[in-house]
Amino acid sequence: MNRVALITGASRGIGRGIALELAKLGHDLVLNYAGNRVAAGQTQHDCLAAAVATGKAIRAEIRQADISRAADRQALIEFTRTSFGRLDLLVNNAGVAPDVRADILDASEESFDRLIAINVKGPYFLTQLAAKWMIEQVTHHGSRITPKIITISSISAYTASTNRGDYCLSKAALSMLTPLFAARLAEHGINVYEIRPGIIATDMTGPVQEKYDRLIADGLSPIKRWGTPEDVGKAVAAIAQDALPFSTGEIINVDGGFHLRRL
Ligand SMILES: NC(=O)c1ccc[n+]([C@@H]2O[C@H](COP(=O)([O-])OP(=O)(O)OC[C@H]3O[C@@H](n4cnc5c(N)ncnc54)[C@H](OP(=O)(O)O)[C@@H]3O)[C@@H](O)[C@H]2O)c1
Repeated sequence: MNRVALITGASRGIGRGIALELAKLGHDLVLNYAGNRVAAGQTQHDCLAAAVATGKAIRAEIRQADISRAADRQALIEFTRTSFGRLDLLVNNAGVAPDVRADILDASEESFDRLIAINVKGPYFLTQLAAKWMIEQVTHHGSRITPKIITISSISAYTASTNRGDYCLSKAALSMLTPLFAARLAEHGINVYEIRPGIIATDMTGPVQEKYDRLIADGLSPIKRWGTPEDVGKAVAAIAQDALPFSTGEIINVDGGFHLRRL
C-alpha cells in the first residue's frame, strides 16, 4: 500500500515541485488548491506521468479548499480519509504574499488579516486535524507507520522586508508551529519539520524578478542562483523517505546559504 501525502497549495510553484518529487517516490497524493483548478489538473497529470516514468503506480486526487476556512479544512481531511484511508505526510505549503507591497507605515489591516488567516491560522488548525488522525493511525498500527508533518515557512521568518511586514510577521508566527507540534507529537512517533526556502522562482516572486536577479548576481546568497520548486521538493522527499528519523522540530534551510552571516 502506498504512503499518502496531502499537500496544500499544490497547483503551482513550490507545492507543485513537492508533489512531483513525492510522486516519483510512489506516494499517493491529495493535491489541494484554492481557485486554480486548471493548474491543479496539470499538476495531477504531471505527477501521474512522473510516477509512471519512475516505475511507480500512484493515485493523485485534486481537491479545492481554502485553508483559511474551518469547514474547508475539515472537508479536505475528510476527503483524504474517504479517498485513501490514511495520511502519512502533511505538507503545509499553501501561502500568500500581500496583494500590494506597502510600506509598514501605510500597510492595511485588511491585508494583515488575510495573511494571518491563510499563512498562520490555516496551517495551524489543519495540522491540528491531521495530527489527531495521525495519532489514531499510530495507535492502531504502531511503529509500522511513521507519519510526518512538514511546514514551508520562509527566510521572511527572520528577514525584515519593510514593504511587506504582514508577510514577515505571518512567517515568523508560522515558524512556531514546528516546535509546538514537534514537542507535542514526539511521544506518538510523529516527526515535525520546517523547511525554510530562500528565493524560489514561482508566480509569487514573478513581480520582483528583476530586483532579485540583481540581488542574486550581487551575491545575496553564497550559491548564486534562484532556487527552484524542485530544490524544495527534494528536501521534502528526503524527509518523506525517513532520512531524518532522530530529528524533529528541525529547520531545514533551502536557500542557497542565504542564512549564513558573512564577513
Ligand atoms: N517563492 C518563494 O520565493 C518563496 C520563498 C519562501 C517561502 N515561500 C512559501 O512557499 C509557499 C508556496 O509559495 P509559491 O511561491 O509556490 O506560491 P505560488 O506560486 O503563489 O502558489 C501558491 C499556492 O498556494 C495556493 N493557495 C493560495 N491561497 C490558498 C488558500 N487560501 N488555500 C489553499 N491554497 C491556497 C495556490 O492555489 P491556486 O493555484 O488555486 O491559487 C497555489 O497552489 C508559500 O507558503 C510561500 O510563502 C515561497
